[in-house]
Amino acid sequence: MKVPHIRTLQAAEADFVCNEVLPALGTGPFRIEDRVLMRRDSAIFRASSPASATALAVKIYDPVASKPGAAEKLYASLRKYESRDKFTVPRAYAFVEKHHAVVMEWIEAPRFGDTLLRLPPWTGKRREQVTLAGEWLRWFHATTDVRQAPYDGPKALRKIEKIAARSETATGCTDKNLQKCFTLLRQAASHFDRQPVTHADVHDDFTPYNIFILKEGAAGFDFTAGRKGPILRDICRFLVYLDTHKYLPTTAADLQAQGCNRADFEAFTQGYGADPDKSPEGFLLYMQLTEIVRLWVANMTRRRAVQGLIRSLETRRLRRMALHVSQALEKKLPAA
Ligand SMILES: Nc1ncnc2c1ncn2[C@@H]1O[C@H](COP(=O)(O)OP(=O)(O)OP(=O)(O)O)[C@@H](O)[C@H]1O
Ligand SMILES: [Mg+2]
Repeated sequence: MKVPHIRTLQAAEADFVCNEVLPALGTGPFRIEDRVLMRRDSAIFRASSPASATALAVKIYDPVASKPGAAEKLYASLRKYESRDKFTVPRAYAFVEKHHAVVMEWIEAPRFGDTLLRLPPWTGKRREQVTLAGEWLRWFHATTDVRQAPYDGPKALRKIEKIAARSETATGCTDKNLQKCFTLLRQAASHFDRQPVTHADVHDDFTPYNIFILKEGAAGFDFTAGRKGPILRDICRFLVYLDTHKYLPTTAADLQAQGCNRADFEAFTQGYGADPDKSPEGFLLYMQLTEIVRLWVANMTRRRAVQGLIRSLETRRLRRMALHVSQALEKKLPAA
């Protein structure tokens, strides 16, 4: 589980945000709340102003730790998706180049990832919210050009090799099942190369930690607009996270053919629509396995030893999912 680290604000930081960053909006005076969400490469402040009815989120990137142009990209990405209906992204108000900062609408809602931990799969509320997340993603993809295009196997293979290289530096890399997964993924990347699959501008990090479920609708964030990719990449990352971030053990009966929880899969696809079925036979399993292995390796290689117990439970669950999915995928691929 990713929990943003919360730090108490220093007076100097509040002055800096109020006097250097927020004046770009021109509607002061501003007040900063006494809490900052500290991220690896950015800090997020909550600000308010009597001139504006809603609170503001100020995201300031660390110029050294963040990728070049991150703030500008975030601003441009948010501006691109300005549909104001049931499905939204935070409104972007200003990009402050000098301070690598973006000022946007503060969305008052818990992250879905945090809510999920209290919602077992068989509850109606979970079903409703997972469906909403599926609907949000469908809206997000549909805002762009959705079409069938050949799958780029070599590009996928490069990503797989990157994860494999990362796993070699981690402890636990000798896990035979993980090695078997990499072999299958390599095989699948070349099997699906050039096959037509549904592409759109993808979110690229669509997890329950990057979406807020609102009273009416949902708001997604933390994406870079304009990246083309198979829609199943977003769908599968979300499905894998849904099944990983919970404490109850998964039984074989809960896992459906796609290797994620049956109830969650049905709820999500009810929201997203039938598109996952349009992909070539076995492609969904391959995308699922890619995401499972990516998260498995990420769990092994994370430096901070926080939440050790939760992480080891997650890893156990991921290994089980990987086994389940790889057995099913193996049957769909031509014999090596
Ligand atoms: N517009 C917003 N309104 C309210 N809270 C926000 C907003 N933007 C970000 N946050 C909070 O800050 C956290 C981190 O934001 P974001 O996901 O953009 O950063 P990140 O560094 O990429 O995080 P991660 O590595 O967890 O994906 C979010 O999980 C959310 O709690
Ligand atoms: Mg995020």
